[in-house]
Amino acid sequence: MPVTKTIPALAVADIADADVAAVIALWQACGLTRPWNDPAADIALARREPNSTILIGRDGDAIVATVMVGHDGHRGWVYYVAADPKLRAKGYGRAIMNAAEDWLRATGIPKLQLLVRRENAGVAAFYQSIGYEEAQTIVFAKWLDGREPPR
Ligand SMILES: CC(C)(COP(=O)(O)OP(=O)(O)OC[C@H]1O[C@@H](n2cnc3c(N)ncnc32)[C@H](O)[C@@H]1OP(=O)(O)O)[C@@H](O)C(=O)NCCC(=O)NCCS
Repeated sequence: MPVTKTIPALAVADIADADVAAVIALWQACGLTRPWNDPAADIALARREPNSTILIGRDGDAIVATVMVGHDGHRGWVYYVAADPKLRAKGYGRAIMNAAEDWLRATGIPKLQLLVRRENAGVAAFYQSIGYEEAQTIVFAKWLDGREPPR
């Protein structure tokens, strides 16, 4: 008999001003913030233009998952993929990624890419479970404001 999975139905919406503090707290709890990334500035930048947003997933009143999603005119990207640490393995991560995929599909973007920090390689199993494959790509990066890259 086929195994059926229940994916929780999150109420997904674009982030609002009133959500910002709770979203930053969630990202901190998930270990997603870094000294060189100001999360409030990252949120403001993602909300500035219509090609990116932060989607918030709620179960009841509680924010349980987030994703920053956007596109560069060619590919879609996600950042700050997070599920409440107290509520892991319930399908919230999958559900918020589904919402990001739907958001990109609606803009006509055919492919979603994402970066995983080497020290967070364990999260690869999550992405593989939801249909992502490791790309044979080397990523190069450069700060455009003159900063030295963090070591
Ligand atoms: C990654 C994260 C969003 C997953 O959220 P989640 O709600 O626990 O994931 P789900 O319950 O939707 O899991 C979906 C699938 O991935 C699998 N999975 C999730 N986390 C996993 C892990 N750490 N290791 C192995 N498999 C995992 C689940 O077993 C499930 O597989 P299945 O559908 O085949 O049973 C969450 O662990 C998180 O917020 N991590 C910290 C932040 C982070 O590292 N984000 C990614 C940055 S690149």
